[in-house]
This record gives sequence, C-alpha cells and structure tokens, in this order.
Amino acid sequence: MSTYTANFRVWRGDTEGGALQDFDVEVHDGEVVLDIIHRLQATQAHDLAVRWNCKAGKCGSCSAEVNGRPRLLCMTRMSVFGEDEVITVTPMRAFPIVRDLVTDVSFNYAKAREVPAFVPPAGVAPGEYRMAQEDVARSQEFRKCIECFLCQDTCHVVRDHEENKAAFAGPRFLMRIAELDMHPLDAAAEAGLDRKSSAQDDHGLGYCNITKCCTEVCPEQIKITDNALIPLKERAVDRKYDPLVWLGNVIRRRA
Ligand code: SF4
Ligand code: F3S
Ligand code: FES
Repeated sequence: MSTYTANFRVWRGDTEGGALQDFDVEVHDGEVVLDIIHRLQATQAHDLAVRWNCKAGKCGSCSAEVNGRPRLLCMTRMSVFGEDEVITVTPMRAFPIVRDLVTDVSFNYAKAREVPAFVPPAGVAPGEYRMAQEDVARSQEFRKCIECFLCQDTCHVVRDHEENKAAFAGPRFLMRIAELDMHPLDAAAEAGLDRKSSAQDDHGLGYCNITKCCTEVCPEQIKITDNALIPLKERAVDRKYDPLVWLGNVIRRRA
C-alpha cells in the first residue's frame, strides 16, 4: 500500500467569520476526500465540523466544494488529484455557514414546501393507478435525486445573487415541477393549478438561462437541464402562445 502526505487547506469558522487553515495529512491508496477529513478530525482538528452519513453517495449529506467545485466529499477520490497539489475544501457557497464545512440548507426545504404536491386523479383508488412504461421511465430519472443540493449551490442565479433566492426555486425544485407536469395521472390542472404557468410565475423558471452548471455537478448524472428544465420552458411557452388558451383568457376577461 502506498502512502503520501497531502497538503489540505480547509475552511474553518462559523457565522462570525473564518479562514482557510493548512494541514499536512496522510493519504492511503483508495481513499476519498471524506476519509482525509475524518483523519484530520482524528489527529489534528478534533472539532472540525463536517456533515456526512452514508459514505456511499446516497444520503446527499457530505456536499461541499473541493478546489472550488461543488462535490460529494465521499465520492471524490484522492486519486483524481496530484500528490503535490494543494486541495482546498470549503463549505457550499450558496448557503449560510453553520460551522466549518457545514451549511444551513433550509432554503431548500422551504422551496420544497412551496411546490404543490401530486394531485391524485379523481375516482381512481391508490393501487389502481396505471401508467405507460415510457411515462414511468421518463420520471424515473428525476427520482434518482439524493437531495445533495449541489445543483442548487452551483446555479449562478442564487450563488452570487442572494436577492434572487426569494423568487427562484432552483434546478432541483424546477425539476420536481417538471416531473409532476409530465405525470400522466397528476390532476393539478383539474384542481385549477397550471404547473407550467406556476413554474414561470411563482418559482422563477425564467431566471434559468440554461447554463447547465447544475447538470455538470449532479452526482446522479441527472440531465436536469435537457430533460427537465428545457422541456418545462418549452411547454410554458407553448401554453403562453397557444391560440385557444389566449382566446379562453380573452373570453374570461370579458366575462
Ligand atoms: Fe443533487 Fe442532482 Fe438532486 Fe441536484 S438533482 S439535488 S445535484 S442529486
Ligand atoms: Fe441554473 Fe441549471 Fe438553469 S445552473 S441557470 S438552473 S440550467
Ligand atoms: Fe452520504 Fe456522502 S456521506 S452522500
């Protein structure tokens, strides 16, 4: 087994402020960045705060930034870095700091609550829902999401613009709306909710200028932009310029 000493630079601090701190730390074959953070806790920085749970890329807890790129610490192999490279580990930039590498991600829970849930179809009992396999396959991709919020962290709409947070749900939750809008059994429209217009008017779909940064960092390789956001934008535009919808609105306004 080969071992070397890596140069780690880790952000330490809290809501009052903080700074990068340098560490020389041992690395063994096959380790990931989270292993090194744990070694730092065990040997040099006993109170270093990091959030993690599964160490298998499935719980979405260990999100942070490595050399400025949003990543899961447990899925980032040390072998992707050179042995003499300085490896900088910082907390997600788009969310408020709690301490060290731990951020307060409650923005995302608030946005999740703002998306109206699936509306069951009338007259069909749970267990009797039937869908075409291709409809199941389409939404299955989105359901791989582990809610790591790396896409939310990287999207420039909120990353550098705190003021946009109120109006923009972010890629993860616009994808959720797209999934519900594609769902053949969702009866939101019958209940008076047009998910396409709501995505645009209530959840800030128009802020997304399809830079695809969200797709690039997604550890589940979900094609957030191509398969969720762009189709949702297209359907929202189709709806806006649909002549029948336009006529219906005119008649409704006159009435
Ligand atoms: Fe994480 Fe991908 Fe889900 Fe975004 S869509 S929260 S990057 S798993
Ligand atoms: Fe942001 Fe992704 Fe759109 S990064 S701008 S939500 S394509
Ligand atoms: Fe669960 Fe990294 S510890 S995804």
